[in-house]
Amino acid sequence: MKRVISGIKPSGELNIGGYGGALQPFITIQHEYECFFFVPDLHAITVTQDPKELYQRSKDIAAFYIAAGIDPKKSAIFIQSHVPAHAELGWMMETQSHFGELSRMTQFKEKSDGKDSVSAALFTYPALMAADILLYQATHVPVGDDQKQHLEMTRDLALRFNNRFGSTFVVPEPIIQSLGSRIMGLDDPSKKMSKSNPNRNSCVLMLDSPDEIRKKFSKAVTDSEGSVHLDWEAKPAVSNLIEIYAVFSGDSIAAIERQYEGQGYGSFKRDLAEVVVEKLIPIQERYKEIIDSEELITILKDGALKASEAAKATLHQAKRAMGFVTF
Ligand code: TYM
Repeated sequence: MKRVISGIKPSGELNIGGYGGALQPFITIQHEYECFFFVPDLHAITVTQDPKELYQRSKDIAAFYIAAGIDPKKSAIFIQSHVPAHAELGWMMETQSHFGELSRMTQFKEKSDGKDSVSAALFTYPALMAADILLYQATHVPVGDDQKQHLEMTRDLALRFNNRFGSTFVVPEPIIQSLGSRIMGLDDPSKKMSKSNPNRNSCVLMLDSPDEIRKKFSKAVTDSEGSVHLDWEAKPAVSNLIEIYAVFSGDSIAAIERQYEGQGYGSFKRDLAEVVVEKLIPIQERYKEIIDSEELITILKDGALKASEAAKATLHQAKRAMGFVTF
């Protein structure tokens, strides 16, 4: 059986980077795999969160899963903290993680860089992420490019545990899309589009109005060449815009290059904004219908039940393998 697990952290407003790297692949993948999509709130609190915002954003991410097209009848949608097995196996995975390998994680280095103090949980974050995945015996994990290193560590931990305690976990494979897995900031194509960038124009949010989206794309940096073609080395800013266009329109890179041949950047950027607006409007409408509904609560309760059921057997097996007293 092919099984997928993945999630988007509720640590900031969702942007189109998360859509390209995660949400859109989730929609495609749900028909081919048994899927578990969750809201990693335990991961969000590895950095300081305002409780009201955490509450709202956790619901937001779940609502976006549904609004973007994940069918809750087929896939489990749930909140990580509703399934305590994540925290339990997370602790067990921490005991198998080495200080050295955790110290090498680039996300930890980036997030701790320049800070006077960071939480211990930010450091052990990848052990909890491994638990999220291994609990479900997931065969595949769709993620953006920035999660590749965490996935490698998950695979290492699964193999290490299996070698030490006997075959327990499936060793998962990442699924990283060729298009959309690395959407960069609109103001600086050397930095990932991120919810934490203080420049609001660098990042298109899932709930931005059509006018905000148009304004942000009109301000997006390009280059002086005036030619719409993909070349990540020489033309990173324009290549980023072409990839966004491809992700949101479904058109191939070659078709986009042909369509804008000899036209400069003006009409390309205007059309790009419209392609994104067209995709986001129905998602925003469905989000508004569902965000404060009973339907969302029911979906999350059902999802947590289904996930708990799937997680229970693996947790029990892992505890027994480690020598815990189990009945
Ligand atoms: P997070 O919340 O930072 O991002 C969620 C997903 O979106 C992808 N992503 C992007 N893809 C393309 N371009 C971007 N600019 C961009 N920004 C974000 C991320 O790669 C990710 O796939 N640690 C994870 C959450 C997590 C998880 C898990 C994921 C916790 N446990 C288990 C999978 C399986 C994270 O912080 O993602």
